[in-house]
Amino acid sequence: MDDKKTSVWTSIRFWRRSAAWVTGMAVVLLMILTFDTMKQVRMGTDEELKHGIKRRVPSPTVINYHISYRYDENRGVEVPVIGKKELLFGKEYSPKEAQELLHLGKLTFQAKDCIDCHTILGNGSYYAPDLTKAWLDPKWNDGTMISMTDSKTKEEAMVKFLMNPKDYRTHERMMPNLGITKKEAMALVAFLKHTSAIDTNGFPRNFSQASRRLEGGTNAR
Ligand code: HEC
Repeated sequence: MDDKKTSVWTSIRFWRRSAAWVTGMAVVLLMILTFDTMKQVRMGTDEELKHGIKRRVPSPTVINYHISYRYDENRGVEVPVIGKKELLFGKEYSPKEAQELLHLGKLTFQAKDCIDCHTILGNGSYYAPDLTKAWLDPKWNDGTMISMTDSKTKEEAMVKFLMNPKDYRTHERMMPNLGITKKEAMALVAFLKHTSAIDTNGFPRNFSQASRRLEGGTNAR
């Protein structure tokens, strides 16, 4: 009885070893993927930005540059293009100032619960437009909102809109006034400019149409 050969498929030892190997390999693979993801989503530095080193999440100082989009043939998605210097509110922000401004923008975004109605970077609701690339929405670039809010620049127009959205309605739904101060509105604009420069693998999906319209707009580069 003892020397009877058993098939490998019915050997308990074989299955125990296989289970240990598969679990071990999966742990190693997940560790590699976790470190890779952390590397990919790490926020870039000002130095990297200055030397044109691409990061999915660029340095906060990206708010000092022009941001546009181009279609990447290889990846089949729209990717952000960080262009020449373009001051925000007529000012060039130092890394520390940019970081603080974005921080205030993020806190305001959370405190005012913008994702109750909007989506950003895949989180939120679909009651109102996706805000991930709002900075590049054609309505801020083709002059519509600039003249509607009687402003000189698009950032000024966005601030006026955010402080008083009820007065500048362009959508079938209306955004309520949320009691946003000027300082908070400016920080929100910087925050939205930064998110527009994040490489989101082409999301939101319908963004490509908006950016193609943008190409034909007045701010096309
Ligand atoms: C109660 C729902 C609601 C909340 C909360 C809300 N919004 Fe809106 N928002 C809207 C609606 C509806 C529109 C479209 C109205 C329009 O464009 O006139 C809009 C439009 C916008 C636009 C213009 C969109 C574009 O593509 O250019 C921006 C920018 C914006 N909201 C930012 C914010 C920010 C920032 C917050 C949080 C501080 C916020 N919203 C909170 C409903 C909301």
